[in-house]
Amino acid sequence: MLRHLVSLSTIATISLASMYSQDQLFLGQVQQSGNPFDESTHELFVNPWFSQEVLASKTLTDDQKQKLKDISAAFWVDTEYAISTRVPSLKTLLDKAAEKAKTTSKKQTVVFIHYNLPNRDCAASASNGEICCSGNAPDPNSGSCDDQSYTGGECSKGLAKYHSYTDKVVSLLENYPDLEIVALVEPDSLPNLATNLGQKPHCTQTTADAYVQGVTYAISQLAKLPHVSMYLDVAHGGWLGWCGTHPCSQDTECGSGNMCLRGTCECPPEQQSQNAQKFVSTIKGIFNNVGQDAQSRVRGFATNTANYQPLGYPDDNDHCQLKSQWNFAWNELRYMDQMDALMKKNGISKHWITDTGRNGVPESRSDANQCAQWCNVKSGLGLRPTSNVSALQQQLRSAQIDAVIWSKTPGESDGCSPGSSQKCTRVDYMCQRDCNSQFQKCPAPEAGQWDDDMIRYLVDHARPSL
Ligand SMILES: *[C@@H]1O[C@H](CO)[C@@H](O)[C@H](O)[C@H]1NC(C)=O
Repeated sequence: MLRHLVSLSTIATISLASMYSQDQLFLGQVQQSGNPFDESTHELFVNPWFSQEVLASKTLTDDQKQKLKDISAAFWVDTEYAISTRVPSLKTLLDKAAEKAKTTSKKQTVVFIHYNLPNRDCAASASNGEICCSGNAPDPNSGSCDDQSYTGGECSKGLAKYHSYTDKVVSLLENYPDLEIVALVEPDSLPNLATNLGQKPHCTQTTADAYVQGVTYAISQLAKLPHVSMYLDVAHGGWLGWCGTHPCSQDTECGSGNMCLRGTCECPPEQQSQNAQKFVSTIKGIFNNVGQDAQSRVRGFATNTANYQPLGYPDDNDHCQLKSQWNFAWNELRYMDQMDALMKKNGISKHWITDTGRNGVPESRSDANQCAQWCNVKSGLGLRPTSNVSALQQQLRSAQIDAVIWSKTPGESDGCSPGSSQKCTRVDYMCQRDCNSQFQKCPAPEAGQWDDDMIRYLVDHARPSL
């Protein structure tokens, strides 16, 4: 589902920064008061359908089921159907949370993923969406939109559908003012623009404009609700952590043979594209578009959503050997610090959350090529969701971390991989690439479907143990 790029060659040539007038930027210094995850006053609401899936498992032991069933994972609103029609839907989830809220003094925190942009997931084929810029539906076999959607130069029909999706989410959320609601906004979208614009056939300028306008709209509308806070997706260190983001004061902080130049580790010539800076410029442009009030409702940034990049605690080792490729963000603690420094240099000061659902075994992948694998990696559950991050905070130079959370539900597939027990309508190359290795789970069901063997694997290899 989610891209993990470690290629040195994905250098976009079109600068998004030029889309914005630099002199009108509002720079985000305003901080909201509260951490929506603060467990002294809040409780992460547990998705009852996750509990049901766990309890119905044929692979987990009774003991494992009891320990797993009450752990919270985010809810993906990846279609309009998932807002209030499907069961479970965001509506049924919020209804259950509102019921629970009546029985406890702590505020219930519900995390959902706002995920339905036009031409969604332009670099991939496992998690394409339902909205095309042309207004037509995607091809059911390939998941792709028609050519007009990618090259037509405008997206008014697709954006109208996205506005309708967003409006429906907002008017639903309005009914639950006593819940603490967290929106994780559009995983992969803006990172794709930083590295894949002009590099992947569907990551075109038309798609880029649609993403920027869509995310701008989502933030503006969600910001109207005082009980909703937002985190924007910022990929992970294996994607946007390449050099140019690593602050340093001396050469030795840049790996052997690399120089510290003007406060940043030097880049080799082929890495001068400054993807991370490009990404931050996109965020700045969007914050400028939405204005000061709305951008102050963006509490922070979310990393590693649905990915497997190690957290970096307690083990800080460079298992993916990223340093040899000029990436100093070989785990998420390092990545949050690097991005935080770059954001602050650009006048943006926010908080951080990171997905630890499935990154418990940092050595599950062992070089940059393996670490590009994002589909059904045989890892283990990572840290349990918590706002007690004092041990992590001590490792961080400047980033302020609100919580670690489970953004992707462990046990749900990243994408289909065929096999005797499994037929697939669509197969992303990555979901088959490492089937003959020890670290990819094959066969596997369609993206989002429960995989009862995978959950047992993740639980058996959990760190800390369940
Ligand atoms: C927070 O976590 C630390 C270990 O990282 C632990 O020692 C402490 O007791 C925890 N605090 C609470 C309130 O749970």
